[in-house]
Amino acid sequence: MKIILLGPPGAGKGTQADFICAALKIPKISTGDMLRELTSHAFVNETPTQKQIRNLLNAGLLVPDDIIVQLVTDRINEADCANGFLLDGFPRTIGQAEALQQAGIQINLVLQLQVPDAQIIERLSGRRVHPASGRTYHIKYNPPKVADMDDETGEPLKQRRDDEESTIRTRLEVYKLQTEPLVAWYSERAAQLQTKYVAIDATGSVEQVKESILTAVNATKAQL
Ligand code: AP5
Repeated sequence: MKIILLGPPGAGKGTQADFICAALKIPKISTGDMLRELTSHAFVNETPTQKQIRNLLNAGLLVPDDIIVQLVTDRINEADCANGFLLDGFPRTIGQAEALQQAGIQINLVLQLQVPDAQIIERLSGRRVHPASGRTYHIKYNPPKVADMDDETGEPLKQRRDDEESTIRTRLEVYKLQTEPLVAWYSERAAQLQTKYVAIDATGSVEQVKESILTAVNATKAQL
């Protein structure tokens, strides 16, 4: 099963990706996590590309297509992706979707998570993350068992640099301009690409959204 999770920043892609991957036993390919990992230890001997990526991430702007497409196609070619994978945060431009198509990678299901802007700002400003694993919490809606500590390792949680309100607004604008056109791109090509396209109302609780997603995933699985 090859799945794309599409949706604005803070829609809950990372949160739901973990549930789907655990249910289907497939790896999660999160381009945001990969880029953060690539730049997290890079202050000493930082390459020009690492510096460029770090600056773009902190500003809430997209990394160029050629860099990201190479990262993702290399990752998909690894052995653990042979039976499927979930793409969280990729593709994010029509150019990236075309590159995926040209590489002959056939996606079974595109899930679009829909959440209005006001809810997104609340979700992102309360988000806390465990940097090493990418595990995500929310101080009110999805709190860790012990405040500010990761449930599995007990290590401290952090706030992402791009979760400041002004950067969240930039990320929302970037989403509308560069990523939202993918909604029409995929829904219009669903038959041609043999890809199921399902829009999910992601405004409910984490559990409610999870149920809607698992219904769509199981229906797609039954048709394969
Ligand atoms: P990335 O890390 O992918 O960020 P994003 O798409 O902006 O998405 P987020 O991680 O912010 O949100 P999410 O939808 O995963 O929500 P989450 O589950 O955490 O990308 C970061 C940057 O990397 C980009 O800005 C760009 O610079 C670069 N980049 C990445 N991919 C790229 C690409 N393909 N091309 C070019 N550049 C790229 O949930 C958010 C919060 O809400 C959490 O606190 C969570 O606990 C809470 N929550 C989740 N669900 C619910 C719910 N149902 N109810 C209440 N709270 C909820």
